[in-house]
Amino acid sequence: MRAPQISASLLNADFARLGEEVRRAVEGGVDSVHVDVMDGHFVKNITIGPVVVGAIREHAGVPLHSHLMISEPLRFASAFAEAGSDLIVFHVEADDEPDAVIQAIRAAGRSPGMALNPETSADAVLPFLERIDLLLVMTVHPGWGGQPFMHEVLPKLTALADEIERRGLSLPIGVDGGVNLETIGPAYAAGSDVLVTGSALYRQSDDLRPAVDAFRAAALAGVA
Ligand code: DX5
Ligand code: ZN
Repeated sequence: MRAPQISASLLNADFARLGEEVRRAVEGGVDSVHVDVMDGHFVKNITIGPVVVGAIREHAGVPLHSHLMISEPLRFASAFAEAGSDLIVFHVEADDEPDAVIQAIRAAGRSPGMALNPETSADAVLPFLERIDLLLVMTVHPGWGGQPFMHEVLPKLTALADEIERRGLSLPIGVDGGVNLETIGPAYAAGSDVLVTGSALYRQSDDLRPAVDAFRAAALAGVA
């Protein structure tokens, strides 16, 4: 059984102290830090750009995953790579041709990930599974943290996990949106490996280690 990986989304962290918030998550034992990038076009919200990834890079002793909720990932892939993103996730629904984005991310020496929205069919990502390093299944409509987990997405996640296994790929699946102590078990049991959590994690004060440990235990309890 694969180990559940906890990824801290900064979307609901204290943006006035972002470096400290990154350190708090890393010291709490998370496996990666998830940076939610929004352009106000692909989603109706605007968050941060490459300059902020560059600023927090030194505080993250774990991989930085930049989740690009932007219409033109091709235009910004190299900037996020140069800023220090280890893995760059773009949306299959974005304007650019996915293979061009995958190639641009790899040309910049980074790992490409692909995200799909709740309403997007699994078929949309099937042509790309061999060429990406993370598949990110959205369990909220992207744009804001603190939204409720969409359980109805889980059958799609399981179908994708089955297809990945059928093809013999070692492609991890991430789940992103509304992940908390109640939903992390079903999400992990459905086949996800990387569990992105934002508001449920950052609503804890000070030491995040107990929360991170509790998330891991709750994930494993989902398959016990
Ligand atoms: C939503 C973001 C997610 C997420 C994280 O557009 O991509 O990373 O909402 O926040 P929570 O865990 O609060 O849903
Ligand atoms: Zn995200």
